[in-house]
Amino acid sequence: MSTTAQIGVTGLAVMGSNLARNFARNGYTVAVHNRTAARTHALVKDHGHEGDFIAAETAKDFVAALERPRRLVVMVKAGGPTDAVIEEFAPLLEPGDMIIDGGNAHFADTRRREAALREQGIHFVGAGISGGEEGALNGPSIMPGGPAESYDSLGPMLEKISAKAKDGAPCVTHVGPDGAGHFVKMVHNGIEYADMQLIGEAYQLLRDVAGYTPAQIAEIFRTWNTGRLDSYLIEITAEVLAHVDAATGKPFVDVVQDQAEQKGTGRWTVQIALDLGVPVSGIAEAVFARSLSGHSALRDASRGLAGPKPTALSAAEAGAFADRVEQALYASKIVSYTQGFHEITAATEEYDWNIDLGKVASIWRGGCIIRAAFLDRIRAAYDTRPDLPSLLSDDTFAQEIAAAQDDWREVLVAATRQGVPTPGFAAALAYYDALRAERLPAALTQGQRDYFGAHTYRRTDREGSFHTMWGQDRSEVEA
Ligand code: 6PG
Repeated sequence: MSTTAQIGVTGLAVMGSNLARNFARNGYTVAVHNRTAARTHALVKDHGHEGDFIAAETAKDFVAALERPRRLVVMVKAGGPTDAVIEEFAPLLEPGDMIIDGGNAHFADTRRREAALREQGIHFVGAGISGGEEGALNGPSIMPGGPAESYDSLGPMLEKISAKAKDGAPCVTHVGPDGAGHFVKMVHNGIEYADMQLIGEAYQLLRDVAGYTPAQIAEIFRTWNTGRLDSYLIEITAEVLAHVDAATGKPFVDVVQDQAEQKGTGRWTVQIALDLGVPVSGIAEAVFARSLSGHSALRDASRGLAGPKPTALSAAEAGAFADRVEQALYASKIVSYTQGFHEITAATEEYDWNIDLGKVASIWRGGCIIRAAFLDRIRAAYDTRPDLPSLLSDDTFAQEIAAAQDDWREVLVAATRQGVPTPGFAAALAYYDALRAERLPAALTQGQRDYFGAHTYRRTDREGSFHTMWGQDRSEVEA
């Protein structure tokens, strides 16, 4: 066994252990360390046969086991625990060494940590890692930020352990400096929330409007997964819907409490979008839908509120409706990705990150939770036109939405008539209609602002800022 590890992983909960095993299975010698040494020994005992591990009980032994420049992967909880681990290890490292934070850190924390460690000559690489436990073990999508030069030595290792897209390309790239990797991972999660919400709405419509059972809806999702919606989330949706609860014999989905939880990355995506002034309304509705579901007292108090009379569809109508829902889901999904990519564009301008959107789409094609066949087309769209103002400006996507829009609207009409909440579909369509509108009521908003607060407005026919003397003779003055 080699006594010099090419990489070390500290924090051996399931994500950390699986990542360490992934490195080992790919032929790297991996130093492993955990706050409680029992876990370190358990990993080596259970999985030692998978490759070369060096179990380190102390931080000092761990650092000593690493070849230089040291590559130290931190897999602990975001926030305080990450800072604590950095504080413990940084004094033991030397210039040129790397700390790779593979947690779901807030990108602002990553920027702060990167700047502080840079002073010491330590490369801090905030790396988004997606794919859950399974991905960490068998190939995640990895979104590393930090100094570009760290990628020279780290990149090949990450490429080896990452997922590979259908064309064989590794699902990892140097996303950009400092917090760029964690930012892109955050937006990945925001899109994940939106995707899940849209799928949830499609399910609810198929159940409440079309009258299908969960098992039938599972079959519909299976069929959709063979087409343009082909994606991991659609695939697992079919599995979850087909599952029957062993204890009651009921569909599993009917015995689970309908209160969705969240750890916070979707919320961050929306909070930061607000700061950047980017309309991510679809992602926001997904976050709000989760919060609403959790307000049980409010929901209990509202159950008696009036709703429309339900109407049943014939089998033929239900089938046609399901096809329309597929169109609505696909069109709304394009809008979610449009909004997410817009947020990345705004951040890359704000922080000078120079993020290549085609590469982002490319590394999301495999390993991550939002992996989907259509990401290859997003990659192609940005590769052809890196300055694409929005995904909706791409001819292929624009044509697909043009073909889908009648059905998309019909689905929302049906949802409204039957009282099925579809905030994701509705927000996506409103975004689409607002973007393509010749004129928006924002002109009226400006007039109101000028009326009550003399906030001024710009005219369509002349340069400058103007104010109307609303309280006097309503003449216009240049402000
Ligand atoms: C991934 C996921 C993961 C995320 C979970 C839970 O890419 O592997 O995005 O990082 O933390 O999906 O997220 P919520 O608890 O917020 O739903």
